[in-house]
Amino acid sequence: MTRFIIARDYEDMSEKAAMLFLKQINKKDNSLLGLATGSSPVGIYRNLIKWHSEGLLDFSAVKTVSLDEYVGLGASDPQSYRHFMNENLFKHINIKMENTHVPNGLAEDLWMEVSEYEKRIEMLGGIDMQLLGIGRNAHIGFNEPSDNFATNTHVVNLTKDTREANARFFSSIDEVPTKALTMGIGTIMRAKKIVLVSYGENKADALYKSFFENTNPRVPGSILQYHADVTVVADKAAMGRILSEGKDINCGF
Ligand code: F6R
Repeated sequence: MTRFIIARDYEDMSEKAAMLFLKQINKKDNSLLGLATGSSPVGIYRNLIKWHSEGLLDFSAVKTVSLDEYVGLGASDPQSYRHFMNENLFKHINIKMENTHVPNGLAEDLWMEVSEYEKRIEMLGGIDMQLLGIGRNAHIGFNEPSDNFATNTHVVNLTKDTREANARFFSSIDEVPTKALTMGIGTIMRAKKIVLVSYGENKADALYKSFFENTNPRVPGSILQYHADVTVVADKAAMGRILSEGKDINCGF
């Protein structure tokens, strides 16, 4: 089932989504959180850091697994997702670094790395709450439009669309890696709860197709219609097409 929470703007979206994580951690202090990078989650992390500094949130028992990482980039590379997570969240809270897991984009044997990552998630007890953004092509994690849904964590070739969208974080598109490691659709679907955040009108089609058209691996986000507990927190612009087509939505707060 999908619940929609409509936010005024990016700040409001970030606060509302961060509240869901606050509740999760307060309910289960050793939650395993699935985390995402990109521009959508930064505001959520800012709220979590603020609440931690105000004594409202304790991360000492929290564990995290990240959705994805570029192949060829390591922690010291400012464009790596490990670096992003350290800078945007981990180094500002009292999480134990050994409790934070990001696929290793520098692993010599990438196939071994993805299979071990999948096992690690299972051994940690499975993801309690998974944070997702969505791509303009409706990718989730780096699960790109494809002929089938990839089940487990795997190595993926990034599409031109995704590399173009992510070029903003690099000095040129040629520097954007061509491959990544990503949780699979199955990995994501096994999370107990999913929170998907999205803002801006360039995501309006991806959101609409994911939740109001038939499920299809060409629209990876559309698999989420089959998950029992998804909360979409999106601003009015990202909700634009859903709202303008008068879709009947199950609203959160
Ligand atoms: C990030 C990730 C991607 C992004 C998506 C949206 O870890 O897996 O799927 O969530 O590309 O990115 P932003 O939020 O930058 O629009």
